[in-house]
Amino acid sequence: MRKAILVTGASTGIGRYLAHYLAERGHLVYAAVRKQSDFAALSGLENIVPIQLDVTDVAQIETAVTHITSQGTGLYGLVNNAGLGGLGGFTTWSEAEFQQIFDVNVAGPWRLSNAFMDLLLASQGRIVNIGSQGGTISKKWYGPYSMTKHALEAYTVALHEELRPYHVHVSIVQPGGIVSNIGANSMPDTLARFRRAQPPFAEEAQQIIAAFENPAPPPEAAEGAPESESNRKPSSPEIVATAVYHALFAEKPRLRYLVGTKWEGDRVIHALIEKLLDANDSPEHNYSREALVALLDDQLQARE
Ligand SMILES: NC(=O)c1ccc[n+]([C@@H]2O[C@H](COP(=O)([O-])OP(=O)(O)OC[C@H]3O[C@@H](n4cnc5c(N)ncnc54)[C@H](OP(=O)(O)O)[C@@H]3O)[C@@H](O)[C@H]2O)c1
Repeated sequence: MRKAILVTGASTGIGRYLAHYLAERGHLVYAAVRKQSDFAALSGLENIVPIQLDVTDVAQIETAVTHITSQGTGLYGLVNNAGLGGLGGFTTWSEAEFQQIFDVNVAGPWRLSNAFMDLLLASQGRIVNIGSQGGTISKKWYGPYSMTKHALEAYTVALHEELRPYHVHVSIVQPGGIVSNIGANSMPDTLARFRRAQPPFAEEAQQIIAAFENPAPPPEAAEGAPESESNRKPSSPEIVATAVYHALFAEKPRLRYLVGTKWEGDRVIHALIEKLLDANDSPEHNYSREALVALLDDQLQARE
């Protein structure tokens, strides 16, 4: 059955792919973009209705709610996809940059979900947040981005519980590297931050700037070689779209969808095991190996 779905950040990358993916399957997509040129590019396409929406702009969000309500389509799905990337050591992030990434990546989904709550409650619909594998793991230079995606995971889990009694399902899709514009879009700010690095961080920052400005050609061995930290290829946005589609339409949607390559998935699983073992490493609370395996078996059985 045709459903109305709002996708934020539909101008490029994952959001644009998703808007087309849903429209091709007959759904009505409210494709939210910021720029007039993106609005024009999406105008007149079958099953796509562009709307102007910056997720940090409360007045634009209110206008979008009024507009969608007036269309009489209701709203079944909200996909909180809009997001900012960006790398840099912690000391190089300005106060404004740090607040902005949280404003878009964390407060954005919270604002949109609240604004469209009445329509989503009425449709007993679905909210899908686009998180990241960086919402489970965290690494050098990715700090603030990973912090926002960890926060989005916490938001998703709590909202999932709050809305369950009202039959609105909330999920998070957590991709690894995906072909999109996120790297190019965030590169000017990323370079500016590495240029701000002061001793003792400046020397390493200079090496990173050089690597960004003159990327080394991929080593020949990388052709056909197993994926590794230095031999990685981003996946197609299709794997994100497939997971979002399941979260939107499956009879039993999942809370979390980890998507990406095998190597990326292994990295997340290893990080989670490390967290588990850290949590278990206390004098008051220290399960034996056998007890941990039994707990894992119980959880697996509960899922069947
Ligand atoms: N690509 C990956 O490897 C990857 C991996 C994990 C998670 N993700 C997540 O996937 C989502 C989509 O990212 P992407 O990779 O497709 O990046 P992208 O190509 O850079 O697209 C980002 C989208 O977010 C929009 N956006 C940024 N700030 C906004 C704001 N204040 N209000 C409304 N829209 C705003 C952009 O609009 P403009 O064109 O107007 O700037 C653009 O449409 C993000 O949440 C990202 O964190 C991506």
